[in-house]
Amino acid sequence: MEKKLSCILLYAFLITITFPMLNSEAKAKQPLSLATDQTALLSLKHTSLLLATNWTNSTSVCTWIGVTCSFRHHRVAALNLSNMALSATIPPQLRHLSFLVSLDLTNNLFHGDLPQELSLLRRLKFISFRLNNFTGDIPPMLGQLPKLEYLNLRNNSFIGSIPKSLSNLTNLQFLDLRSNSLSGEIPKELGRLQSLQTLYVQRNHLSGAIPSAIFNISTLVAMGFTYNELSGSLPTDMCRNLPFLGGIYLSFNQLSGAIPTNLSHCSRLEVLSLSYNSFSTGEIPSEIGYLTSLQFLALGGNNLNGMVQVLIT
Ligand SMILES: *[C@@H]1O[C@H](CO)[C@@H](O)[C@H](O)[C@H]1NC(C)=O
Ligand SMILES: *[C@@H]1O[C@H](CO)[C@@H](O)[C@H](O)[C@H]1NC(C)=O
Ligand SMILES: *[C@@H]1O[C@H](CO)[C@@H](O)[C@H](O)[C@H]1NC(C)=O
Ligand SMILES: *[C@@H]1O[C@H](CO)[C@@H](O)[C@H](O)[C@H]1NC(C)=O
Ligand SMILES: *[C@@H]1O[C@H](CO)[C@@H](O)[C@H](O)[C@H]1NC(C)=O
Ligand SMILES: *[C@@H]1O[C@H](CO)[C@@H](O)[C@H](O)[C@H]1NC(C)=O
Repeated sequence: MEKKLSCILLYAFLITITFPMLNSEAKAKQPLSLATDQTALLSLKHTSLLLATNWTNSTSVCTWIGVTCSFRHHRVAALNLSNMALSATIPPQLRHLSFLVSLDLTNNLFHGDLPQELSLLRRLKFISFRLNNFTGDIPPMLGQLPKLEYLNLRNNSFIGSIPKSLSNLTNLQFLDLRSNSLSGEIPKELGRLQSLQTLYVQRNHLSGAIPSAIFNISTLVAMGFTYNELSGSLPTDMCRNLPFLGGIYLSFNQLSGAIPTNLSHCSRLEVLSLSYNSFSTGEIPSEIGYLTSLQFLALGGNNLNGMVQVLIT
């Protein structure tokens, strides 16, 4: 009897503590509207005179400068605040822009860490934070944006390593992490990005070998690793699976070993930069001469001998 009573009491207690939680959860899940989008954006309004004068309550948010609404849902679908000299952190309210497909903050003075909440914007296909001063790690939760096709974090102050979780972005076509302070190894998991056309990680402090899985991304058109601390050798069959590769930038690293001999399989190669490494075959592979699209070839600063006969067209 006593046991039963305490059970009931416990039950009643649980109800009282869980109900308010359910309630607030329900509130959070309330359908968001254009008014929510407006409130979310107002948190950025006072970061510039232009926005302060243009983003007025008396006009629809869809007519605000930098804002594009989707015709179908009548919600904010694109936010383009590039080149506006905005100095701010990303307001957490931005997570309410649940129909956002494109977020372009290129060339501003945004700073601080990227909020985890960005990963709630499930419709995002395009993110550019290029030319800002974001700091901290690249949040692993960015790997949870299932539709992301374009991610540009170039010229910021990101530190830490490249999150493995980015390999979940199976629709990613463009990844630019140039000119940050990233360190550690390039995750081999990135080899899973089987839609990737551009991979740029130049000017960081990345170390270790370039995972051979990267050379297995057959969609790649350009890959750049210049100015890092990468070591190890290139796979001898590097060009086995890169039919579209137009440019590979490897200069200013500590790569060693032989220059791959099957280079002629990268038949569309226009730019091959291997200079300032420790490549040493003794001989430059004559295969390079078969690369009829080649327009730029850098081999200096290695321990190579031999002659290359290249037809520069
Ligand atoms: C805000 O800027 C847009 C785009 O330049 C313009 O069409 C609109 O009229 C402006 N609104 C106000 C209130 O100034
Ligand atoms: C504009 O609208 C927001 C949200 O509806 C409100 O909080 C704010 O006070 C309004 N500002 C002005 C100047 O009316
Ligand atoms: C944002 O606007 C700039 C300048 O108007 C333009 O060059 C850029 O392509 C736009 N971004 C997107 C994602 O459309
Ligand atoms: C970027 O942020 C870092 C760290 O907060 C600071 O030292 C640096 O001066 C900033 N750079 C610019 C261009 O604002
Ligand atoms: C981008 O970063 C690189 C390396 O830190 C620097 O040399 C370059 O000037 C930066 N670009 C701009 C436009 O600030
Ligand atoms: C490259 O891809 C092939 C076929 O898809 C696979 O068998 C192989 O294990 C991959 N190699 C690496 C290093 O990921």
